[in-house]
Amino acid sequence: MNAHSFNVLRLLSDGQFHSGEDLARLLNLSRASIWQALQGVEAAGITLYSVRGRGYRLPRPIDWLDAAQINQALGPHTTPFHLHIQDEIGSTNTVLMQQASLGAPHRTILAAEQQTAGRGRLGRSWVSELGGSLAFSVLWRFQQGVSYLSGLSLAVGLALVKALQSLGIGQAGLKWPNDVLLDGRKLAGILIEVQGDSLGPSCAVIGIGLNCKLSATAQANIDQVVTDLSSTLSPPVSRNLVLARILQALDDVMQTFEQKGFVALQADWQAAHLFHQQVVDLLSPAGIRRTVLVRGVDADGALIVEDAAGIERIHAGELSLRQRR
Ligand code: BTN
Repeated sequence: MNAHSFNVLRLLSDGQFHSGEDLARLLNLSRASIWQALQGVEAAGITLYSVRGRGYRLPRPIDWLDAAQINQALGPHTTPFHLHIQDEIGSTNTVLMQQASLGAPHRTILAAEQQTAGRGRLGRSWVSELGGSLAFSVLWRFQQGVSYLSGLSLAVGLALVKALQSLGIGQAGLKWPNDVLLDGRKLAGILIEVQGDSLGPSCAVIGIGLNCKLSATAQANIDQVVTDLSSTLSPPVSRNLVLARILQALDDVMQTFEQKGFVALQADWQAAHLFHQQVVDLLSPAGIRRTVLVRGVDADGALIVEDAAGIERIHAGELSLRQRR
């Protein structure tokens, strides 16, 4: 979509009908530019009602990200974040990794209304939807080296669960290493990428994708069993509030992580792990399944499992955990 498409969508977010003429006048654009902008909207898979003589209407008004609302929800006591919101981006992680190497400051947040090349873990793509998802990345700088960051992705998962609890979603939990599940379905995912020296300093770009209200079309495009906030939260909460709660929880968890490491969060993490002391399948990238008992996680975030051969530590990225079928 081009910038005009986003401006048109913002005007249509009042849920009212607007004629092409009306939109052109309000945006000071030609009718041809409005037509092109509307084409872009439809090409992006966004449904518009169009009624002859009345114009266009968005059947589902968009809850736009808004820096002022996010800052207000963060309140005066949170250490400030450098918050940037873009309409469209390939991947917030990719761009923030580039900005990090160019010196972007600690606590930079890059959020996007729309990601066109969202990335997930293990080389997968990540589907998000305009107005229906949160897709953002956080730059965190550490004095310590990259080896200190091994439990970081688990720590961030814990922050997400805490944020959801603060919104009244107490039943959300974790699946090692860092999927956030609700009723056995994926609600949020985390992609962490790091830069720096082994002895420090280092930095991490923490990418978070959360399903807020996904359309049936978006859900059909995702090759995992997913859920969203709207299936459990009624009335719906603003994405700005959700983002602020995540940042607050992240702030708390990161303070502990920076000072004491993942070991200080290990017990809380295990309490939030939906598969703690459960029998699960471990799946290798080649598709080989093994059944094990989950004993816990260790101080650097490795999963501790047991089977007839004994106890073993599994590192994120090697194997993925599956509920027993
Ligand atoms: C996963 O596979 O579970 C991780 C998904 C992470 C998605 C988020 S959305 C914001 C950030 N930008 C990306 O390209 N990916 C992450």
